[in-house]
Amino acid sequence: MNPGTPSSSSSFQASLPHAPWAAAELSRIPYWLYTDQAVFAREMERIFCGRSWAYVGLAVEIPQAGDYLTTTVGNRPIIVCRNRDGELRAFANHCAHRGVKFCRQRSGKATRFTCPYHQWTYDLNGDLKGVPFRAGVKGQGGMPEDFDLSQHGLTPLKVAEHHGVLFASFDLSIEPFLDYLGDTNRYYFERVFDGRELRVIGYSRQLIPGNWKLMFENIKDPYHASLLHVFLVTFGLFRADQESQVKMDDTGRHGLLISRRGTQQATEHTKDIANLRADFTLRDARLLDPVKEFKDSATVVMQTIWPNLIVQQQSNTIAMRQIQPRGPDAFELSWTFFGYEDDDEAMRTRRLRQANLMSASGLVSGDDSEVIKLAQDGLKPYPEREAVLEMGGRGTHDEEHMVTETAIRAFYKYYREVMEL
Ligand SMILES: [Fe+2]
Repeated sequence: MNPGTPSSSSSFQASLPHAPWAAAELSRIPYWLYTDQAVFAREMERIFCGRSWAYVGLAVEIPQAGDYLTTTVGNRPIIVCRNRDGELRAFANHCAHRGVKFCRQRSGKATRFTCPYHQWTYDLNGDLKGVPFRAGVKGQGGMPEDFDLSQHGLTPLKVAEHHGVLFASFDLSIEPFLDYLGDTNRYYFERVFDGRELRVIGYSRQLIPGNWKLMFENIKDPYHASLLHVFLVTFGLFRADQESQVKMDDTGRHGLLISRRGTQQATEHTKDIANLRADFTLRDARLLDPVKEFKDSATVVMQTIWPNLIVQQQSNTIAMRQIQPRGPDAFELSWTFFGYEDDDEAMRTRRLRQANLMSASGLVSGDDSEVIKLAQDGLKPYPEREAVLEMGGRGTHDEEHMVTETAIRAFYKYYREVMEL
């Protein structure tokens, strides 16, 4: 089956053992959405393996012919590689014979891929090239005369590269990536990916015991950032009294939190921020010695690109965070920290130092992993209840401040369309 083919939907909601989601209601999110196995299966089919461009890696990770990396789109393992001509290819890491996930390395160099089970062999375009004992042994057995190798290649994905960033889609008829991204999000995407050669400076991976949507929501939620994160508010990196914007694309699926750094001073506008610790100082001030490097005055831009990518730019720490769902209750968050090939040594060191804020054990992002687990723990036993999302009203439009949940509501507007829920 083409994983992008929508299944019949009219009976889906009726088949769920929960009260329906009220029509057109975006300020209420039912908790069964985060725990139900059938919802998860439909998300994999419609969102991750349907009409979407999923982030799969950076071009600089597979620079030469034969280089490959393995990852997942949703819960499906895939391979991204360069064929003998250096062209990008992607296909399912799933043998056409018996379904084996045949490639076990995270990355490497190959001239072909051979399944360990029965040694079916594929070239770097995913085409089946060899089947052992195809003609039988001593005149016995073998594949039927009409067995056609060309009909048994690896399931292909469409690949797109924009300024060194790789995306893949199971939907071979999906629109071009830049159309998918939209103009506003393109501006901010190209703010970081301006065409300069990237350089990976580190990886971090973590398994978070929560639903994948909680991670996406977290990065669309400036309301929490100003309250939860002691580090952000205390040192003025992201705070409700700073000049900020929340922007979306026309569909609501992609989102942007944009802000400008302020100070550590408490003001009349920060009295609700219990975590603002005006008496805290850093033992090593170099942890926060940002230098301006981008084309506008924003000092932090957190971009969510449907369905699985967070582009993080906080001061000079820039990273991709890739969401890889494992089931309704868990996802892997895979971080790729990078800078530019033309960074000097001081800048590379600065980026690495600031990466202490944002990683699996980050001084800021560790708070998010923890509350996502607490959210899953708290909502799972109450599938019949629902979240209340009324901060900033009940609409889904762009805002010029942080005191809003508009981007989460916009996300669910598009989510409901795709899921037909
Ligand atoms: Fe956060």
